Amino acid sequence: MEKITLNHPNSQSIDLIAQHISQLSQLFPEVIKEGKVDFEALQDLLGNYIDTPEERFQLNWAGKVQARREAQKRSAGTLRPCPEESVDWDTTDNLYIEGDNLEVLKLLQKSYYKKVRMIYIDPPYNTGNEFVYKDDYSDNLTNYLELSGQDSSLGTNTESDGRYHSNWLNMMYPRLKLARNLLTDDGAIFISIDDNELANLRKVCDEVFGEENFRNILLTRRRIKSLNSQFADKGLQTMNVGFEYILVYSKSVAFTMNALRMKKNFVPDKGRWDVFWSNADRPTMRYDILGFTPESGQWRNSKEKADIAVANYQEYNNNYSDKISLEEYWEKTGIDDFIRRIPNGVGKNGGVQHWIAPSDTSLRTSNWTDIEVSQIAKEIDLPFENPKSKQLMTELLQITDNNVIVLDFFSGSATTAHAVIQLNAEDGGNRKFILVQLPEATPEDSEARKAGYKTIAEIGKERIRRAGKKIVEELKAKQAKDGALFAEEQKKLDIGFKVFKLDSSNINTWDSSPSNLEGALYNSVQNIKSDRTEHDLLYEILLKYGIDLVQPINEHVLAGKKVYEIGAGALIVCMADHVKPEVAEAIAQLWKEVKPTAIDEPSKAAINCRVVFKDNGFDDNNDKTNVLQILKQHGIDNVVTI
Ligand SMILES: C[S@@+](CC[C@H](N)C(=O)[O-])C[C@H]1O[C@@H](n2cnc3c(N)ncnc32)[C@H](O)[C@@H]1O
Repeated sequence: MEKITLNHPNSQSIDLIAQHISQLSQLFPEVIKEGKVDFEALQDLLGNYIDTPEERFQLNWAGKVQARREAQKRSAGTLRPCPEESVDWDTTDNLYIEGDNLEVLKLLQKSYYKKVRMIYIDPPYNTGNEFVYKDDYSDNLTNYLELSGQDSSLGTNTESDGRYHSNWLNMMYPRLKLARNLLTDDGAIFISIDDNELANLRKVCDEVFGEENFRNILLTRRRIKSLNSQFADKGLQTMNVGFEYILVYSKSVAFTMNALRMKKNFVPDKGRWDVFWSNADRPTMRYDILGFTPESGQWRNSKEKADIAVANYQEYNNNYSDKISLEEYWEKTGIDDFIRRIPNGVGKNGGVQHWIAPSDTSLRTSNWTDIEVSQIAKEIDLPFENPKSKQLMTELLQITDNNVIVLDFFSGSATTAHAVIQLNAEDGGNRKFILVQLPEATPEDSEARKAGYKTIAEIGKERIRRAGKKIVEELKAKQAKDGALFAEEQKKLDIGFKVFKLDSSNINTWDSSPSNLEGALYNSVQNIKSDRTEHDLLYEILLKYGIDLVQPINEHVLAGKKVYEIGAGALIVCMADHVKPEVAEAIAQLWKEVKPTAIDEPSKAAINCRVVFKDNGFDDNNDKTNVLQILKQHGIDNVVTI
C-alpha cells in the first residue's frame, strides 16, 4: 500500500513542468533526453530560426523570469470546506474560495483543467492608490497565512516605488499563466483595466495567450466624478478619463461569440427598403421571392404599387403595430393581395427590394459606452467602493453559452456571482460560478467596517446571499402574476455556493529543526494535523486527485466505519481508526453496487477506483496487508494511505 506523504506527487498540486515536458515529448520525442530538454535539438527541429535574445520582440521587466517560475511551482496548501458560511451546501454547483488567488489557481489546476469557459477578472489597476498583493516566492503560503491574519491593509504599490510596473506585472503574469490552463479550448478571458496598465497588459497577454488570440478591446464608460475636475486630477494636466477597457483573449480559434444587440441611443429608424435583387436577372426567381406572378413581368412598371405597400406598412407600424397584428390590419383595411407582400416590393429602378423593419437596437460593436462600468447594486445595499456594474457583467456573460463555468479570481463584492444568478433566473440558464477573493481587511474607518464587515470576502459572501434571496423573491412575484407554479423554477435556480478557505495542507510537514524535535517526532506519527476534520481531508484528496469540488459525496457506514464514496466509486475514502478486513470486503461490495460495470471488467477497476485510508488507521501491519489483499482480489489495487 503506497503511503502519500507531503512530498509525494499526489499530495501536491499538478506538476506543470512535468506536464510541459511530457507534452513536448509527445510532439518532438527526439528533444527529450533522460527527462531533460535538449535545446539544440529543438533548435534544429525549428529550422534554427531563433532570434538572438537582444533583438527578440518581447516585453521584459525586472523579476519576469522568477515570476514565470512561480507559476510552475506547486502549492502545498489546501482548500478547507466551510459549510457553515455556505448556502445550499449539498446541492449547489457554485464555489466561493477565500484566499490568495495565486495559491488557489495552483490548487484548482487538476480539478478544473480545461473546464472553465469564461474567466472575467477585475484586478487592481495599479493606480498607485489601491493595494497590490505582494507574493513572497520563498514561501507564498506562509506569507499569505501571516498576512491574512492581520487587521491592517496589506500595502499599496506606489509610483515612487522604483519597480512600480514590474511589481504589478510580477503579480499578474503567473496568475494569467495559471488561469489559461483552466480555460476550455473554446473559452476566453475578459480583463478589466484602465489607462495605467493597458499597454503592459496587452503585451503580457499577447505572450501568455498568443497574439493571434487577441479578440477585442471593449470600451466602457467611466463616470466622471466631478464636472469641474477637468485637468484637476494630476499635477501634469490630462483630460478627465472617461473610459475603461476590457481586454478579450481567447484560448484558441475555437472560441465563438454570440452576437449581442444594444439599444440604439439615437433616434430609431423608420424602416427602409433595401435592394437585394437587381432587375437584370431571371424573372422566375423574382416570382419566387415575391410569392406571386406579376401581370407584366416588368418590375419597374409596378413601382407605384410598391410605394403603396411601403406607405401602408409604415402606416401600420406608426399607428397600429402595438394594437393589432399585421393580419388583422390587412383584414381591416381590405388591401389587395399584392400590397400585402410587405417584406418584398419593387424599387425605384425596378430592382427587387425587401423591407427592413424599424428597429431600436443595433449589433453591439466593441464600443460599450452605453454601459456605465461601475455601479453599486442598489438593491443589495452593501458598502463597497467601485464594484463593476451588474449590467456590464450580465452583458458580458451573454457572449458565451448559458451553461458554462465562469471564474472570477479578483471577485471583490461578487458582482460576477450576482450577475450569473440574475441571468440564470432571466433566461433559464445553468451558468455556474467560481469566485476567489482575498480576505483583505476593510479599512478601519470605512463604512464597510462600521457595518460589521471585517474583510472584503465577508462583503462578497453576504452579497451573494442577499442577491439570491432577492432574485428568488422577484421570481416568485413574477410567477404568481403569471399564474405559474413557483416550485419548478426555484428548483432549477441555483442561488447557493460552497465556501472554501485556503490553508496549509492537512498533512504535516517533517520539521527537522532541532528546536522542535519532540513536536516533529509526534507529527511524523500523527501525520494528519490534529485540528483538521475528516471533511478537510476529503476535499484535499479530491483536489489532489483532480475531482471537482462540487461532486456529491455519499456517506456510508460499512462494517461500523464511515466511508465516503465520490463520482460513482471513482474515489472511496475511509479515514477511520481500527480498520479491519471486513471494511475492505464491504468497500469492494459498495464499489460493485455503484459501478456494476466494474464486475464485468475487473481489469478496469484499477484505473477506475481509488481507495484511500489513513496511514495510522490500522491497528497493525497484519490488518493493513489483509485489507490490501482483499481489495486486490476484487480488482481494486489502487489503494493508498495518507
Ligand atoms: C477591483 S476589485 C474587484 C471588484 C469586483 N469586480 C466587483 O465588482 O466588486 C479587485 C479585488 O481583488 C482582490 N485581490 C487583490 N489581490 C488579490 C489576490 N492576490 N487574491 C485574491 N484577491 C485579490 C482585492 O481584495 C479586491 O477586492
